[in-house]
Amino acid sequence: MLRKDSGSISVKSKWTKTKWLLSDHVLRRFVPETKLFTRSSLNEMTDRYKMVYFKPTNGTGGSGIARILRTSPRKFRVKKDARTFEVSSASALFDQLQKIAGGRSYLLQKGIYLQACRGLPFDLRMTMQKTGGGNWVPSVMFVKLGKPNKVVTNYHQGGKLALVEQTLQRSGYTSTQIDHYKRQLKMLGIQTARRFDRHSVRFKELGLDVALDRNGRLWILEVNTRPNFNALKSLADKSLYRTIVRYGKMYGRTK
Ligand SMILES: Nc1ncnc2c1ncn2[C@@H]1O[C@H](COP(=O)(O)OP(=O)(O)O)[C@@H](O)[C@H]1O
Ligand SMILES: [Mg+2]
Repeated sequence: MLRKDSGSISVKSKWTKTKWLLSDHVLRRFVPETKLFTRSSLNEMTDRYKMVYFKPTNGTGGSGIARILRTSPRKFRVKKDARTFEVSSASALFDQLQKIAGGRSYLLQKGIYLQACRGLPFDLRMTMQKTGGGNWVPSVMFVKLGKPNKVVTNYHQGGKLALVEQTLQRSGYTSTQIDHYKRQLKMLGIQTARRFDRHSVRFKELGLDVALDRNGRLWILEVNTRPNFNALKSLADKSLYRTIVRYGKMYGRTK
């Protein structure tokens, strides 16, 4: 049943949203393995993957995120913000991560080796917005280039926005490949929007964070239900900001 509600809703929990993606037979292939952080899931994930991301279940803006690298069978290097430390056992790793978590719920996610452009790792943002008629539109896509020495690409952590074509071109992709990725991003956006619609028709905007790995594969890192609009003002090309605001007006996000 379609409810006519004004305003949009948001869901904070990355765990809830990841489970929604995993329940979709198309989307699940694009989701890196994700588990709630416990001692046993930490052992499992670090046995399986050389790189694991540690993210607050209810976090935003790239805060609280750490990256775990297995440097030898028992050694781990953890990087969070400007700090890097090493531990020499799985249980020491668990203790340190628990300190970082400080009682908050955390997730472990398979680490994706992000493609880089001129040495800067980047990921892609696909924004979906609903029209007055209730149809989802892939409204804008852009790139977030990470600040060197950061484990996140977020704008609020020093990341810089850039255009998809330019970035992929500079990273060595052909225009045929770029078109393919743009179509894939739209497909992921539409499929995700349909899936979220099953949970509530009151979702009006979604921002997918999609990683392109060094083997050319796309991975959905997370879905934002209240994507940041302001960062788009930083782009020289103001047409993306104008587009996101134009759609935002239809559901009262922007004036
Ligand atoms: N599994 C992962 N592998 C590689 N990089 C990741 C992974 N998860 C997150 N990141 C990096 O951290 C950033 C922030 O993570 P994200 O899940 O989007 O949380 P937030 O809600 O804080 O933005 C991503 O844009 C990406 O640059
Ligand atoms: Mg994000």
